[in-house]
Amino acid sequence: MIKVEVVNTMKAESDRKWWKESVVYQIYPRSFKDSNGDGIGDLKGITEKLDYLKELGVDVIWLSPVYQSPNDDNGYDISDYQSIMEEFGTMEDFDEMLAAAHDRGLKIVMDLVVNHTSDEHPWFVESRKSKDNPYRDYYIWREGKDGKEPNNWGSCFSGSAWMYDENTQMYFLHLFSKKQPDLNWDNEAVRNEVYDMMNWWIDKGIDGFRMDVISLISKPADFPDGKAGVNGYASFAEPANGPHVHEYLQEMRKKVLDRADTLTVGECSGVTLEEAKKYACSDGTELNMVFQFEHMDVDSEEGNKWTDKKIDLRKMKEILTKWQKGLEGVAWNSLFWENHDQPRSVSRYGNDTEKFQELSAKMLATCLHMMQGTPYIYQGQELGMTNVPFGGIEDFRDLDSINAYYELTEQGVYGKEEMLKRLRYKSRDNARTPFQWDDSENAGFTEGKPWIMVNPNYKRINAKEQMGRENSVFSYYQKLIRLRKEHDIIVYGSYDLLLPEDPDLYVYTRTLGEEKLLVICNFSENERELTLPEPFGTSSEIVKWIGNYEDSGAGRTMQIRPYEAMALFHKI
Ligand code: GLC
Ligand code: CA
Repeated sequence: MIKVEVVNTMKAESDRKWWKESVVYQIYPRSFKDSNGDGIGDLKGITEKLDYLKELGVDVIWLSPVYQSPNDDNGYDISDYQSIMEEFGTMEDFDEMLAAAHDRGLKIVMDLVVNHTSDEHPWFVESRKSKDNPYRDYYIWREGKDGKEPNNWGSCFSGSAWMYDENTQMYFLHLFSKKQPDLNWDNEAVRNEVYDMMNWWIDKGIDGFRMDVISLISKPADFPDGKAGVNGYASFAEPANGPHVHEYLQEMRKKVLDRADTLTVGECSGVTLEEAKKYACSDGTELNMVFQFEHMDVDSEEGNKWTDKKIDLRKMKEILTKWQKGLEGVAWNSLFWENHDQPRSVSRYGNDTEKFQELSAKMLATCLHMMQGTPYIYQGQELGMTNVPFGGIEDFRDLDSINAYYELTEQGVYGKEEMLKRLRYKSRDNARTPFQWDDSENAGFTEGKPWIMVNPNYKRINAKEQMGRENSVFSYYQKLIRLRKEHDIIVYGSYDLLLPEDPDLYVYTRTLGEEKLLVICNFSENERELTLPEPFGTSSEIVKWIGNYEDSGAGRTMQIRPYEAMALFHKI
């Protein structure tokens, strides 16, 4: 037996956390299941499908916003935080869903969107009335500079982040759409309103919060210009990690979060590793974990996401490894390839042709679920749902995509066809088409007309077909989730990258005491020979494995097939 260094034996019991051991499933309610035939998914639809999620084996549901909203940005523009969007149902429907989830041992994490509200929120309706309105200071108002916007910050959804308001002849800040004015977190009254609202939800029994662009809530006092991007404006994330953000989150921890055993995850646009260590510090003073986006930018070009290029795997490995090693022992990662803002991962990082769609979906699942952090599954990812063959701009619903189309074609940055091609590759709408339940009309999502087109491949790719099939993507996800419950090493083992320069293979190990886990993922169609480093292949004993080809298994030298993935559990 070869002697290997024992890195970390068992985890101290205090390091164990239920939210580290969990798998989170994100629901985008509008597109999950419609219960009343109006073409829009709703809460009753979710309740109907909880058994499906139980069957999959996930522990926590992150619900994209279900609050009252004029839907400029599909619920991320909230006009009342304490009532339910009419299209989604009623508060009774919510309570029923929550109780039904809890009955099944599923937790519910709410989306908390408090960097901004809707412009139809009563606070903003008041705020814009006059300069001395009691709500004026709930938002960020500034005088123009030389007859122009106060600075060059851009909105995430095209154009300037400042909107001129005739009424009081000042500008208000909106890092997102004009209908999403930014709240002024430096105002203590705003913070207390937010905490009261959060406590109200906690008292209802919800299990945590996913905090929308929480890294942006504290703006620098002097509002400096930033570096201009392809459309002439600085990035919306320019004010990320502002001067008081940690102070505010620590305050929130004391006034709200410590009242219950919650899961908290911060969507942290523009976060650096050093900052993440503060947001998600294991001392528990702020949040449990961060969603960082550095690996989502591997296929961007200088901040412009509208590219159509494939990723460089070496870059992807470098970034993910930086986060794996960087947070080890001090903070906690969220693991994701997809959410409602990203295109489908099979189309982006894998291969969505009929030949490779299932293989590459499983490969991506293996690669992600075996890393250290809490894995997130976005609805449909567990079926290997793909990008959508959208036609013209009229097929899109997302304001981000539509605004970018007009802005960049009018500025002449791209021609119309070229821009459509980029939208088909990168648009958020790729993730927002109806969940594919079965092969009946509209994929079993609705009996009416769906609010956005259904991906025509639903006859082949759907939950009903996959649930009954042993080698489906769905069944593979079930196995990965089950393994997580059986092997501490998946949750707590330390991570090390092998072969950093290999352009096709992502190979890494996890180590916990006497155990080692070896993960091999082929991100390409190339057949590759791989010689394993000691102690793998020869002197170690494989106690269990999972792979996406039926006969995976290790010898010292292996032929790795197209999109092959395997995780080999060793006792050294
Ligand atoms: C977050 C959400 C995104 C939304 C934006 C504004 O990035 O995930 O969907 O458009 O914030 O709320
Ligand atoms: Ca409905």
